[in-house]
Amino acid sequence: MNLVVMASGNGSDLQSIIDAIEEGYIKATVCAVISDKKEAYALERAKKHGIAAYCLPKKELKERFQQELLKLLEKINPDGIILAGCITILDEKIVQKFPNRIINIHPSLIPAFCGEGFYGMKVHKAVYEYGVKYTGCTVHFVDSGADTGPIILQEVVKVDEEDTPETIAKKVLEVEHKVLPYAVKLFTEGKLIVEGRKVRIKG
Ligand code: GRF
Repeated sequence: MNLVVMASGNGSDLQSIIDAIEEGYIKATVCAVISDKKEAYALERAKKHGIAAYCLPKKELKERFQQELLKLLEKINPDGIILAGCITILDEKIVQKFPNRIINIHPSLIPAFCGEGFYGMKVHKAVYEYGVKYTGCTVHFVDSGADTGPIILQEVVKVDEEDTPETIAKKVLEVEHKVLPYAVKLFTEGKLIVEGRKVRIKG
């Protein structure tokens, strides 16, 4: 199975997928990494592992960005697309082209602290300010909304009194590095059955 991973930043989530593939935990190939940001370290990680790295700078491409992205994805024609720390919300046309084949990881327990405007550290700052005692991460299929698609897996992280947005981010990311490869593994093994809003895990 050929996967495209999209990432906007450091790419530690991407790395967790690459490592899981190299260890034989996931039986699939990352055939390309696409970033919407030139400076994304994720692109370097891809190159280090001999993976094709594409940069589609959103800032420069502006309204052409989604169209170019669709063209590139159609050319690569992957079996699945993993949004691993990707801040772009994909156009309806892209989502329709790959139904139940696009997976996103979000650093909160959806439906809390999610949707447009909630990404990266903004999520952890909001979690900290609200004073919730638990947060976590969610892996879900992508539909045409922002963080609204069927939930695959969630994992809880406890927020302690001494935590700051930065320590919360670190704790959540550590959990992401386990949950995301597991979700990708299930996906590549055909074990994720989408029934309406719900995802059933086979076997
Ligand atoms: C992760 O917390 C992910 O859930 C969020 O952005 C972060 C990406 O981290 N969307 P990295 O770039 O993979 O290290």
